[in-house]
Order: sequence, then structure tokens, then C-alpha cells
Amino acid sequence: MKEISMELIDGSSWLTTEEITGKMEEYAPYLDEVKYGEKQYEDNLGWLNVDEWAGEKWITYYQELAADVRKNADVFVVIGIGGSNQAARAVVDAIGETGPVTIKWAGNSISANSIRNVLQELEGRSVYINLIAKNFETLEPGIGFRALRSFMKKEYGDEYAKRVICTGTAGSHLEKLCKVNGFHFLPFPLNIGGRFTALSPVGLFPMAVAGINIGAIAAGAKCMRQKLLEESASESMALKYAVIRNMLYQKGFGMEMLSYFEPRYFRFAKWWMQLFGESEGKDNKGLYPLFGNFSEDLHSVGQFLQDGSNIIFETFLDIQNTGASYVLHNDHVDDLFDYLDGKDFDEINRAAFEATITAHSKKFPCVKLSVPAVDEETFGQLFYFYEFVCYLSAKILGVNPFDQPGVEAYKEHMFQRLGKN
Ligand code: PA5
Repeated sequence: MKEISMELIDGSSWLTTEEITGKMEEYAPYLDEVKYGEKQYEDNLGWLNVDEWAGEKWITYYQELAADVRKNADVFVVIGIGGSNQAARAVVDAIGETGPVTIKWAGNSISANSIRNVLQELEGRSVYINLIAKNFETLEPGIGFRALRSFMKKEYGDEYAKRVICTGTAGSHLEKLCKVNGFHFLPFPLNIGGRFTALSPVGLFPMAVAGINIGAIAAGAKCMRQKLLEESASESMALKYAVIRNMLYQKGFGMEMLSYFEPRYFRFAKWWMQLFGESEGKDNKGLYPLFGNFSEDLHSVGQFLQDGSNIIFETFLDIQNTGASYVLHNDHVDDLFDYLDGKDFDEINRAAFEATITAHSKKFPCVKLSVPAVDEETFGQLFYFYEFVCYLSAKILGVNPFDQPGVEAYKEHMFQRLGKN
């Protein structure tokens, strides 16, 4: 399997090799704890051993269930927010659906315009829905599910329940609803928090409905787990990345920007943003995660990055084989772009990528994460790598990666306004 790899590019000399090596030695014991998981977090580590929720039996089960949906559906609506939809959406947006089913996303906003648009797109098509909710108290998927249920009842009458699959926790109110109403119930792992669920039914089932090869996603994740287990502390890619992130944070960089030159990684960047934002941003600490959708964003924030205050460092996703090609031919209009005659968009994009990393790394350190291709195996590797690095980074920072107490503050005010008891 072609593996992802990492490299530090620091023309600005913020970090010396000696400093990094020293810190890696200091935090080596943390790596061992993260490899096998700590007792204090055992209720949150269902993702750490990939087989627990993405082993062969599970993969076959998700695929069989997905095959049933694919036989009859034109559209499959995933209703969920945050960790309950981002991983599946990242993969489906980057790789695309194959086969008969189009995936739509709902339950991730409170906008009347958004829900109306989704419902309009369903008219006249064969629809199945998948509500994904860990605690089934989150407002967005709750009201999205209601809106979709009304649509389904109107379209399919009493038979609508056969088209509803709910991913929820055992013993939850949602499970009761499924029993009473005849919806199919799929387990949401009790031992995984939303943002770590990419490699579980939460992420894998909708991907399978889209025609994604989820066996290859799991294989990629297992390959990455094996690599991270086998690497010693001095050669560990995860430890090096976590240490670099922490050292830069200690030197005053407050933000990490995930930059990429393939816009189809936008949803992956959103997944990454949630993973790190919710896991590290607590106790008045943490790097703020943001992303650069290049080359477009170079025309908006490029100036700040190159010349503004030193608060951001960058991690570049280097997508080595995009699998796409479009050659630019000369159409004999004197547009002054002749120097690009016969060049491929892909080649021009690479030149822009290399130029940007050269320019930016003269100002602040840049990490380059080389991703061999846009495919399932690399997504499996990326999900596992980042979840592991996130756990390790939070440990170095001294925060609990698996809770999110801060997200409740605005909800209290909102529920008060909406009259929830
Ligand atoms: O990581 C988390 O736990 C959260 O971001 C959740 O994924 C998100 O809030 C959605 O929660 P739920 O599935 O309970 O609706």
C-alpha cells in the first residue's frame, strides 16, 4: 500500500533538529500510552483498534445493509451534524458516488432555506434516509429528521418506515423510537465520541451506500495503525508532528492552517477542523484550526500569511496523484497566457503548490503531508493518523481530548429562548 508521509519544511529556522529530537525524547513515554490507550479514557477509545468497529464482520454487515438501500434508492439523505456526518461527507465529496445513489446532507443547519432546498431536490425520486445522532438531543438533526419524516410519510404512507435507518446508541430514546416505528437501528458506538467515528458505522455505512470501497478505507486505517505501532519514538511520524505542533504553539503560533490545492478536500478540512478544535480547544489552551482552500484563498488571505503577524503555521496536504487531467490548448486568441500552452491544469496546480510552500516556509514553518492518491486507502490512513495525532497532541497539551464541555454554553441560552424544559 502506498503510504502517506510527513516532512517539515522550515526555511525560516523557527525549529532546530536538536530541539525537535529533544522534545521527541521527552514525550516518548506518551507515545506508548497513546498506542494502546489509557485506562482513564477507555470509554472513548473504541476507534483505537480499528477492528473493533471496522473489522471484516462489520464491514460485511455495513456493505450488505448498503446493498439493500442501493437496490431501491435514487437518493440517500444523511441527517447528522459534526462528527455524525463530516467523515462520510469528506470521502463522498472527494471520491464521489459510484452507482445509482446520490447522497444529500441534512440536519446540519437550522436554515429554513437549506431544508427547503433539500426537500425540493427529493421530489419524484426514491428516497432513503439515515439519521445519525449519538444522544438524539442535538437540535439540528432532531428537526431535520422531523422534516424528512413528514416528507417520507407523505410520499410513502405507512411503508415509509422501511426507508428509515437510524444510527443511535443502544438504550437511547432513539432506539425506542426505532422499535415503536419500525425503523432500522444501527449501533452508534457507545465507546466513541462523534468526531472520532470515521471508522465506525457512523462514517462507513453512508460511504458504502455511496459506493465507496469501505473495505479499502479500513485497510488503509489498519495499515496506518500498524505503522504507528511499529515505529519507535525516534522515528514516529505521529510523535514528530504532535511535538512540532506543540513547540510552535509554545513559541506563540496560535493557529494551524490545513492547506490544500484540491478543493474537493474542503469537507476533509472541515472534519479535521472539528477534530482538533473540539479536542484541543479547552482550559484556555489549544491551537485554533483553520483551513486554506488554495489556490483560491491565496487571493484572499495569501497577503496575511506572507506578511502579516506570525500567528499561523501551515500543514499542507500534498495530493501527489489527483487522477485528473485537463490540457490547456492554444486557441489563437492573444490572451498573454501562451507560456502555458500544452500544460495540464494538474501541472500548473503543482507549480502553484510548490511555489506557495517555498514562499510560506521562508516566513513560518510548514509541514508537508504527502498523500499518494485520492482514494479509499489514503482516506483510511488520514483518518487514523489524525485521530491518533489528535489524542497525542492533546496529551502533550495537557487537556482531555474526548470531552467538549464548552459547546454547552450557547445551547443553554438557545434552549431558554426556545422554551425547552
Ligand atoms: O464530537 C462530538 O461528539 C460532537 O461534535 C458531535 O459529533 C456532534 O455534536 C453531534 O452530536 P450528536 O450525534 O449527538 O447529534
